[in-house]
Amino acid sequence: MLPDLLNELIKNRRSVFPDQFVAGKKVKDEIISQVLANATWAPNHGMCEPWHFTVFNGDGLQRLATFQSNLYKAAAGEAYNESKCLKLQQQPLKASHVIAIGMKRSAKKGIPEIEDIEAVSCAVQNIYLSVTAYGLGGYWTTGGITYFENAKAYFGLTADDRLLGFFYIGHVGIPSPAAKRQPLEEKVKWVTVV
Ligand SMILES: Cc1cc2nc3c(=O)[nH]c(=O)nc-3n(C[C@H](O)[C@H](O)[C@H](O)COP(=O)(O)O)c2cc1C
Repeated sequence: MLPDLLNELIKNRRSVFPDQFVAGKKVKDEIISQVLANATWAPNHGMCEPWHFTVFNGDGLQRLATFQSNLYKAAAGEAYNESKCLKLQQQPLKASHVIAIGMKRSAKKGIPEIEDIEAVSCAVQNIYLSVTAYGLGGYWTTGGITYFENAKAYFGLTADDRLLGFFYIGHVGIPSPAAKRQPLEEKVKWVTVV
């Protein structure tokens, strides 16, 4: 039954972090392409399709690692933190693929920026669910250089666009524990007119 399958998929989707991936095991590029195709079926206001993805795999992962750790080093100044820098160098290499998530600001006037961001967020949920359906693991991170203005160009983004983070994908070695959500009643108010 499709609704049952969908309910299970949504509920069982979990963030799976790089240390939980099977080291060195690659995901087929065709699967990543399908995952990204699914991302582009997300709703978006004005059919602006504001998503822009940059996929890193193979040696590209090392390029991302070098780029982001160098950018961090250059910007950190006195706040430089060695373990943070090491993490930026090491994390991409634990993944099979890393997708930089960009929002390209729509040319259409009248669409507020937040709606382009919301559309990309819908696309990222499609990525999360697709990865889960393929039995893979992944997560969205907004850490590291995500909000560095001078990171944008590397990912094909201009000043008006936004870098919204990175989606890491790999084979699941250590599954994430079951998660919890607050009771629905705490989050939902029904207004019923009889
Ligand atoms: C916009 C956004 C940004 C996130 N950034 C991070 C992050 O920087 N680091 C991290 O460990 N997890 C990040 N996450 C993943 C959350 O930690 C994760 O979704 C949350 O713990 C709930 O777990 P679940 O995804 O398994 O339901 C992010 C999630 C979202 C939606």
